[in-house]
Amino acid sequence: MAKQYDPYENMLSILDSAAAKLGHSKDDNDYVGIRVPERALIVSIPVLMDNGKIQIFEGYRVQHSSTRGPCKGGVRFHPDANLNEVKALAAWMTIKCAVANIPYGGAKGGVKVDPSKLSEGELMRLTKRYTAQILPIIGPERDIAAPDVNTSGKNMAWMMDAYSMMKGYAVPAIVTGKPLELGGSLGRPKATGKGATITLLNYLKKTGQNPVGMTVAVQGFGNVGSAGAELMHAQGFKVVAVSDYNTIIYKKDGIDVNAAIAFAENHGHTILGYEEPGSKTISADEFWGLNVDVLFPAAMENQINEKNVNTIKAKVILEGANGPTTVEADKILAQKGTVVLPDVLTNAGGVVVSYFEWVQNLESFMWEEDEVNRNLNKIMTKAFDEVWGIHKEFNVPFRMAAYMLALRRIIKAKSLRSIFP
Ligand SMILES: NC(=O)c1ccc[n+]([C@@H]2O[C@H](COP(=O)([O-])OP(=O)(O)OC[C@H]3O[C@@H](n4cnc5c(N)ncnc54)[C@H](O)[C@@H]3O)[C@@H](O)[C@H]2O)c1
Repeated sequence: MAKQYDPYENMLSILDSAAAKLGHSKDDNDYVGIRVPERALIVSIPVLMDNGKIQIFEGYRVQHSSTRGPCKGGVRFHPDANLNEVKALAAWMTIKCAVANIPYGGAKGGVKVDPSKLSEGELMRLTKRYTAQILPIIGPERDIAAPDVNTSGKNMAWMMDAYSMMKGYAVPAIVTGKPLELGGSLGRPKATGKGATITLLNYLKKTGQNPVGMTVAVQGFGNVGSAGAELMHAQGFKVVAVSDYNTIIYKKDGIDVNAAIAFAENHGHTILGYEEPGSKTISADEFWGLNVDVLFPAAMENQINEKNVNTIKAKVILEGANGPTTVEADKILAQKGTVVLPDVLTNAGGVVVSYFEWVQNLESFMWEEDEVNRNLNKIMTKAFDEVWGIHKEFNVPFRMAAYMLALRRIIKAKSLRSIFP
């Protein structure tokens, strides 16, 4: 039987190792509370379907930590969404916000649904009722949502509306990743891809490598994958492979990323059927085995695992997705000498600009896009430098260094607050 990966166990095993390196055992008073989420809510979401029947969907909101500030994290719509996955995603948000040193804890939400099977009206009713079901635990000062897999600014607008209607006044700061017209931030749509590109460039600069002409393969061509591919392409990288749930496209001389993005925008957000002279489709096995400089997984968890890790030839793995590498695969990559720039650092750009959006909403003041990008660059580069410092000081891989940096901050904040009551 195929091995079942438990994302929460994956997260915990790394967290425990990082704690041990900092001298904390699992039952240390300062650490024990970080191993478990503060709060987890399962909700039933009744939705009036277009055929007149009511269908019940299961949804989740997990608040892993509010030690360093309000909980923050996206909402995912996916048929495989489940409590354990959402718990892991919430914990990764806690770590990520601490790595970036922004004043948030971590949360995540999910609904078990295949949104492609719902009409626009059904999707809106599902999003709004999900918001109503988790209302008792969310709020701009306690838990702020954002888009994740299969959700976008459209869902955030609906969440904001549902929350605002129940409060009786507009509350833009309840969600980030909103459309600009509702108080969204300039620069937010591409922030995660931009943050990943900044991290890659920081790594290459530190190691004295020139990005121009370096080859990249991208798994997932949604928000993170397409923006990352576009920005890397603009920096002179050669994006030789792009993939999504439906297809994988390869071109030795580099894909015209902007044309692929325009195609996806006009074809239901997929690159299925995209062609250009010299391009071809390849299999998943061929994709993982591509002889590229950088592999950019930007789709789902556990994509790099025991089955494909030994075929990977990429020198650098830039984790755009959350948890794309299993613990076992991570160990094998370390033995092979493959550099892994971990999710909790690489994809933090999204939550960093979400933080800027929330700050703008609370101040009722809009920033210019260059201010957003300048501050994003500053925070991502500082986080990279701090992770690099621990990587060198303790001689540990970047993932371990990032967890150690985050844990130091969370443990310090916990001990300053002390236990209640
Ligand atoms: N959106 C953000 O700001 C953000 C921030 C941080 C991390 N992330 C993480 O990045 C990842 C992608 O999120 P997103 O917002 O881009 O989602 P999205 O829904 O916009 O895009 C997901 C993409 O992955 C593809 N995909 C799904 N399963 C696949 C598979 N098995 N093989 C190949 N492609 C597959 C989809 O077809 C789609 O192109 C997730 O892990 C998410 O948690 C997102």
